[in-house]
Amino acid sequence: MDADCTERWSGAAERWAAHADRIDEEAEAVTEWLLAAAAPAPGEAVLELGAGPGGVGLAAARAVTPAGRVILTDVAPPMIEVAHTRAEQLGLQNVDFEVADATALAQPDASVDVVLCRFAYQAMDDPGRAFAESLRVLRPGGRLAFAVFPEPERNPWASLSFQALAEAAGAPAPGTEKPGMFALADEQHLRSLLTDAGFVDVRLEHVTDERRFDSFESWWQLRRELPPGSASAWSSLDEAAREDLETRLREQVRRYSHDGELVFPADALVAFARRPSS
Ligand SMILES: C[S@@+](CC[C@H](N)C(=O)[O-])C[C@H]1O[C@@H](n2cnc3c(N)ncnc32)[C@H](O)[C@@H]1O
Repeated sequence: MDADCTERWSGAAERWAAHADRIDEEAEAVTEWLLAAAAPAPGEAVLELGAGPGGVGLAAARAVTPAGRVILTDVAPPMIEVAHTRAEQLGLQNVDFEVADATALAQPDASVDVVLCRFAYQAMDDPGRAFAESLRVLRPGGRLAFAVFPEPERNPWASLSFQALAEAAGAPAPGTEKPGMFALADEQHLRSLLTDAGFVDVRLEHVTDERRFDSFESWWQLRRELPPGSASAWSSLDEAAREDLETRLREQVRRYSHDGELVFPADALVAFARRPSS
């Protein structure tokens, strides 16, 4: 397990907890695609990887009742605590929680029907290893559905803040590193990682929608607080550098301003694949 990665995401958990409902709202279309593609059915066992606050697994828990179970996993213990609290608030009884590195899972071979993962494989050190583990724990014929991010230009709501923070902090743009937000943007590479791991029936699609914010401040708060790399770049800046950065960003996002709102195009690269039946 990569200690740096665990520490980075553990440090972000409190901020992710504060914005968990908003995160799920923004990713609603992606979650719908994942659940429609994987189609978890009553009685089935579902494993969510890199669950963070758990939005996808908690939605899947309703689909597998009665008798089905969902296991929410994440490498960062505080993220799992956030997911646990949210499950309790929702009164869900069929969810289990585990701190787990998706590249080295404790689940026995062929023990789950569905693996779900929303925006987390790209955050892992060795996504190829994680896909191999996902395949191992799936039953023959089992389904994998996940989402990552395509090229930065398709998601200016994220790439603009990454770029500006990198320039201000004199660091590589958060998200462009590997692992990082755009580490699995190349579709050919992603497809070969999946087929090399042994998956079949691989289908890649895009879910395009919009990310809307009622003000510059509400957008900017999320962008500097949620990605761990952005939060640390921001904390390294002095007051003058922060003001300068905000002035430049206000200017850059002006073109996305409509009737007092910021409306950005958004695009997710979503995938379905299956473990061979025999
Ligand atoms: C961008 S967040 C996505 C969280 C959640 N899936 C969502 O959509 O709201 C990425 C998550 O992946 C987790 N993560 C990073 N590397 C991991 C690994 N090797 N194994 C399991 N989880 C990991 C992080 O702790 C973090 O919670």
